[in-house]
Amino acid sequence: MNSNSLVSISDISKDEILGLLEQARYFEENPNHKILDGKVVATLFFEPSTRTRLSFETAVNRLGGRVIGFSDASTTSSSKGETLKDTIKMVSNYVDLIIMRHYLEGAARYASEVTDTPVINAGDGANQHPTQTMLDLYSIYKTQGTLENLTITMVGDLKYGRTVHSLLMAMQYFNPTFRFVACKELEMPAEYKDFCDKNGIKYTEHTDFSADVINSSDIIYMTRVQRERFTDIMEYERVKNLYTLHNAMLDNSRDNLRILHPLPRVNEIDYDVDDNPKAYYFQQAQNGLYARQAIICKALGIEINK
Ligand code: CP
Repeated sequence: MNSNSLVSISDISKDEILGLLEQARYFEENPNHKILDGKVVATLFFEPSTRTRLSFETAVNRLGGRVIGFSDASTTSSSKGETLKDTIKMVSNYVDLIIMRHYLEGAARYASEVTDTPVINAGDGANQHPTQTMLDLYSIYKTQGTLENLTITMVGDLKYGRTVHSLLMAMQYFNPTFRFVACKELEMPAEYKDFCDKNGIKYTEHTDFSADVINSSDIIYMTRVQRERFTDIMEYERVKNLYTLHNAMLDNSRDNLRILHPLPRVNEIDYDVDDNPKAYYFQQAQNGLYARQAIICKALGIEINK
């Protein structure tokens, strides 16, 4: 395994997180820094994506590298039965860095263990999405001016939502207070609540997305109910529309409140929220470009001469 791989947010320290945020800031100010000349990066997406794949590919292009890969595994030899191990070993022959999304939890860890090429996890099932977390942290820092002592309310699919799992773990360094708003079927899994307990992270659980919860939050992190993770489609139908944020619900919210969402959204944020200055999800996705430029450089061991 290459030690520059980023498979879980727990692979990197607080100092490394802060270093990546600083570099993201640099890339926001200097997006076209051509430091990947001669480098080839593979984007292997076994599961659909818009933002993650396109922002990674834009990041490589803006840094002067080249991209190969696929956005639909059915066009590759995995559809003929080639294993993930063989696919990763083959691609490693061609590239300097592998960026991979897969529908199976643990797939990115497994891939990182069968190659010496660094692997970046672009989402593995319901498990982790560490690069989303870096752009989330960057977005929180930009809008709040700090990562410390914030009240963060996570709403929706906390069971299958890999973005909330990674973000929760990354926030361990910054004394957060979490509010978990979800129905019983989609509550935050026990392993993440245990993580909070072991690390002294405060949290409360709610089934009601109440005015009290909204009005005492610095960040509201909405999530989509992930139909693709359900084995029982009737259960999905029962829970899919339980939590929707409407503009009027923000009338008495804090001035510094920002609404985040990893996107894509379905019904969980009404379009009437989009013009509210507290809506930040589109800028959040833009921040992904800068955060991913920083992550790519780190994975390739490239120093940025500012
Ligand atoms: N946030 C996110 O992972 O979006 P995509 O699925 O479009 O990549």
